[in-house]
Amino acid sequence: MFILLKKILKTSDNSHTIYVPNLNETYHSIYGAITESNHIFIKNGLLRKLDVNEISILEIGYGTGLNILLSYHESRGSNKNINYTAIEPFPLNLEILDKLNYLNFFEEKDLSKIFFNIHKSKFDVKYKLGDKFHLIKKKIKIENLNLSNKYDLVYFDLFAPRVQPNLWTVKIFKQIYDIMNFGSILVTYCSKGYVKRNLKECGFKIESCPGPPGKREITRAVK
Ligand SMILES: C[S@@+](CC[C@H](N)C(=O)[O-])C[C@H]1O[C@@H](n2cnc3c(N)ncnc32)[C@H](O)[C@@H]1O
Repeated sequence: MFILLKKILKTSDNSHTIYVPNLNETYHSIYGAITESNHIFIKNGLLRKLDVNEISILEIGYGTGLNILLSYHESRGSNKNINYTAIEPFPLNLEILDKLNYLNFFEEKDLSKIFFNIHKSKFDVKYKLGDKFHLIKKKIKIENLNLSNKYDLVYFDLFAPRVQPNLWTVKIFKQIYDIMNFGSILVTYCSKGYVKRNLKECGFKIESCPGPPGKREITRAVK
């Protein structure tokens, strides 16, 4: 997969996403980037893990860092400890990140520092983003991931199966299943039948949840 050029697009809720013309693919839904990320990863992911005080999150394909920012923002008022591992083989440069308008959607001015710290923090070094929020970024492809930690919540946010058919497979899902705790959740925007079947084959229990604008369903897979 090659990313040749990137353009910023405004989505239906006015938040930005990134469009990759040679893949004809966007980083988020054109019906609302922030709306989509909040719905899938926060509402149907993080907020389903209210029973525990310590949560280990793994994000596959952190791209703009929007899910890290939203997770940080959501967890800030709670007394939960969050350990967030985020992987991305193709980090965006600061020139494009600087133009994204996500900070306009929050009242808290200090989030601007948080957003840039997310991107400026070094790879493979545990970074304290907030009192109870630690981030470790890894510049690696999911195919080569070798982690010994166990996760409670996985944000599976790769490009669509049309673009990356080799990553929505039993082999990749099994690799992730093995590093998830019992009762943990994987959430993804994709609701294709064969993706759900592949998840099921690994041992996940599949739940289809209502999708954000422009999408009928999303998938939650429970270990
Ligand atoms: C749908 S976009 C990401 C959206 C991202 N979560 C965000 O909020 O901006 C998919 C991301 O997966 C990354 N990616 C592509 N190939 C990958 C791979 N083999 N392993 C992990 N991430 C990959 C892309 O670079 C891109 O950032």
